Amino acid sequence: MTVEHEIQKAAEILAKAKQAAASCGAGVSAESGIATFRDPGGVWDKLNPAEVGTTSGLLNTLDRNGRKLVPFFIELLEAFEQANPNPAHLALGDLEQMGILKTVITQNIDNLHQEAGNTDVVEVHGNGFRLACISCGKLKTRPRRELIAEIKSRIQELREYNLSTMAAIMPACEHCQALMRPDVVMFGEMVKDIPRAFDAARRCDAMLAIGTSGVVYPAAYLPFEAKDAGAPVIVVNPNENPFSRVSDAYIPMNAGTAMPKLVEAIKALRSA
Ligand code: APR
Repeated sequence: MTVEHEIQKAAEILAKAKQAAASCGAGVSAESGIATFRDPGGVWDKLNPAEVGTTSGLLNTLDRNGRKLVPFFIELLEAFEQANPNPAHLALGDLEQMGILKTVITQNIDNLHQEAGNTDVVEVHGNGFRLACISCGKLKTRPRRELIAEIKSRIQELREYNLSTMAAIMPACEHCQALMRPDVVMFGEMVKDIPRAFDAARRCDAMLAIGTSGVVYPAAYLPFEAKDAGAPVIVVNPNENPFSRVSDAYIPMNAGTAMPKLVEAIKALRSA
């Protein structure tokens, strides 16, 4: 099957959908300049998940070897600072406007789906720009670039690199002055909004699995959950992944190229 044929099949599925769901991974933000985790040169090629992927590991590394982490933190912060929604994010916003896509379930923490206009976004791994107080639990969402600029300037003022100095780069809680942390899910922590994510997968009339390697659970269950509930599954990923074998349409392309083509093909079907 040619790629164009797969796009046409996917468009025929989505043209009829009224409450599709999209299960998104880091590949959706790759073309916004945010590195994925497991592609060559990705985050886990540069950082050891055991050292920075768990809360205890990160605190330990900050205390023992904070200075080594700073360049990676700055690189990551700058990628998030410079990122904008790319054509894949914008196409998902279009699909919601067209009455096709209802829910975006994302493993990404970059807020780009919301900035692209999607209004029902389930962030199972949290949001990097929503801060949570480690003492009173209060949440505070900050504008992405404003928070990054504040953290970057605090990092540049650091003279000592240990747990207490590095923890102080985060804003304090307005209610109790305690430390705040990004409201994101580290390995071993409870993922967020899973009932809502599974409900969207079970109710959807089409499931898009976009830009995810499908190796992290429970998010990786979602396309299978939709399939089991009778929904067709459309996969968009330039590389092989666990979902291709259950897909009704498999578009082996970058999401930033595939998704606008998909929206155009749907519009052509609707105007025919
Ligand atoms: N368009 C579409 N897919 C892409 C693109 C692109 N431009 N670039 C890369 N991909 C695909 C890769 O082929 C890969 O399958 O995106 C996927 C990225 O996989 P991962 O890096 O494993 O990211 P993800 O699946 O989101 O990881 C899940 O793992 O480390 C944790 O919490 C982290 O949320 C993350 C979770």
